This record gives sequence, structure tokens and C-alpha cells, in this order.
Amino acid sequence: MKAILVKAPGGAEQLYLGECPTPEPGEDELLVRVAATALNRADLMQREGRYPPPPGASEVLGLELSGTVEAMGAACEGYDTGDRVFGLLPGGGYAEYAVLHHQMAMPAPPEMSFEAAAAVPEVFLTAFQALDWLGGLKEKQHVLVHAGASGVGTAAIQLAKRAGAHVYVTASAPKHQRCLELGADLAINYKEEDFAHRIQEVTSGYGVDIILDFIGASYFKQNISVLALDGRLIILSMLGGRMVEDVDLASLFRKRAQVITTTLRSRSLPYKIDLTQAFSKKWMLFIEDQRLLPVIDSVYDWTDVQAAHRHMEANKNIGKIVLRVR
Ligand SMILES: NC(=O)c1ccc[n+]([C@@H]2O[C@H](COP(=O)([O-])OP(=O)(O)OC[C@H]3O[C@@H](n4cnc5c(N)ncnc54)[C@H](OP(=O)(O)O)[C@@H]3O)[C@@H](O)[C@H]2O)c1
Repeated sequence: MKAILVKAPGGAEQLYLGECPTPEPGEDELLVRVAATALNRADLMQREGRYPPPPGASEVLGLELSGTVEAMGAACEGYDTGDRVFGLLPGGGYAEYAVLHHQMAMPAPPEMSFEAAAAVPEVFLTAFQALDWLGGLKEKQHVLVHAGASGVGTAAIQLAKRAGAHVYVTASAPKHQRCLELGADLAINYKEEDFAHRIQEVTSGYGVDIILDFIGASYFKQNISVLALDGRLIILSMLGGRMVEDVDLASLFRKRAQVITTTLRSRSLPYKIDLTQAFSKKWMLFIEDQRLLPVIDSVYDWTDVQAAHRHMEANKNIGKIVLRVR
């Protein structure tokens, strides 16, 4: 089959359309003819050789897909050939075919395009896991989402707002309008304003109950300073660095702060099945009737994958960058 491959670890110029073996579905797996996949920051790191796939996963890039069921293992239930599905992958989405565990497949709503369906799994499951499972989000809580216009950020704004929270985001200025349209109550231009100061101002000194942070070290002290009592700082990435110097643990005790780090790709299959099913149960109706929207920044043909990666590297996207396959 055709797939996007990496010549050698490095920049976007290393990506090319090549040939590799078509995967064989296991007992529990669907073989999906991929219609679309979407980019994630992890793809850039994997391309650079800094994020190897977990053991047993495809070496091909791509953490999500939409497409049609082509074949299936004997233990698969609930699906037929030709069914439209979408779901999360541990790898292998940038290809003509990929295998997807049947319990991690979600039926694509009839009205939903393959491009939109491919933009859902990684960001909505990540945001749901962070807000609900790790954050314990409750109505009326105050939530700060950093990188609000990122793929994960655009999903998190919507989920938090639908759950009845007050939502604040940081993002660069041209991205504010979209964050506000998605439901954010306030967008802060972190390049010009101290976000912690602004949050204290709008919450009258209360702070926030949950922070979804992708920035890491450079925001750590400000994040702790802006947490409410018993607040949870959930760190999903380290875009702004990994080393934090001179942290006074007393600043965490004063807040009874919980600092939680998380990953999704390396989680066990049973965990990811439970997550997919819990998300579907709670939110699939909202996806079907478009109360929750996958936010699509751009759609590239997969032969333009190098341009798509460069677009993400330039931090230009608002929401998801989708690759149309074939
Ligand atoms: N741990 C997990 O389970 C998990 C799962 C999925 C994704 N992630 C991580 O979550 C992050 C977001 O993923 P994504 O695919 O949604 O990203 P994305 O759409 O590419 O958006 C990332 C945005 O972050 C902002 N940004 C980048 N570097 C920054 C910096 N140094 N300081 C402040 N803001 C910065 C930029 O927006 P502005 O223009 O607004 O600055 C950029 O567009 C990635 O790091 C990804 O690896 C983690």
C-alpha cells in the first residue's frame, strides 16, 4: 500500500509518499481504508526521531483516522464492511490502510465528512481525559486552557463550556476571535499580558480550578500562582521547556495544588477503549448534532504532507490540520 514515510529523522523535507506492507487485521481489529487523517504535534517529534512509537504500534505516522471498513477479524462486533468509522490510533494513520481495534472505532455520523471525522479523536479524547478524568471538572468551575487555539485547546474550550465552566484561554492575538466563538469567556494575549495577573483580575482573586497546560516550564510558576485552592494543574506537553528552577514547594502547599502529567499514546489498550467509550457515551450526540465542532484549520492532500507539517511548525493553525488520503 501507499503511505507517507520518513527517509531519515529530520525536517518536513524527509517525508515522502512511498510503499509499505498493508497491515493485517488481528482478531479484534478492523482494517480501515483511510479517507483522512490529521496532524498532531507528536507527528513532528516522531518525524524528527524524538518520539518512537510504542511497542507493537505501526512505524508509520498518524494517530487518528476516518475511513471505511474494508475487512475485519473474527472477534469484531458491531461493524460491517463499508461502514464509515473514525478513531484513535497508536500509529499508522498516514497510509491507505490502517488497523483499528473494533472497540476504539466510533461510527461516523452520516452527515459528517471524513475530513471532519478525522479531526475529532486525538484532540477530543485528550481534552475529555484531561478535563473529566484527571481534572474532575464540575459545573461553574473556572478553567484556564493554554494554547486555546491549538487542536486540543479548541476541543477543550467546547467541552469545558458545555459542562458549564468559566473558560479562559491564552493564545496569540489573531486566534482570539475563534476561541471566543467556540465559547471562551476571555482570551489573553500571552505575548503582551501576564496571564496570571489577568486571571486574578477577572476571577476577583479566586484563580482557576483546572489548568490545561501545554507549555510546561516557562509557565510553571505563573500556573501555580493562579491556581485556586485545591486546584489541578494538568500538564500535557512541554512546548516552553522542561526544567523549572527554584520552585518553592510551599507555593504548592499553599494551594494544596495537584500537579498531574499525562500522555495518551502510551496508555494501555483497555484504558483507551474505556476512554473512547466514555467519551462516546457522554458526547457523541453533541458531535452528531454539531453542538461540538471539530475545528478544521486546513485540509491538505497527503501528497502535500510536507507543507502541512511546515504549517503546524510555524504555529499558524487554529484547530486541526487534516490530510486527505488518496
Ligand atoms: N499528553 C497528551 O496526552 C497529549 C495529547 C495530545 C496532544 N498533546 C500535546 O498538546 C499540545 C497541543 O497539541 P495540538 O496538536 O493541539 O497543537 P497545535 O494545534 O499544533 O497547537 C499548538 C499551539 O501552541 C502554541 N504554542 C506553541 N509553542 C508555544 C510556546 N512555546 N509558548 C506558548 N504557546 C505555544 C501555538 O499557538 P499560539 O499561536 O496561540 O501561541 C501553537 O499553534 C502539543 O504539544 C501536543 O504534543 C498532548
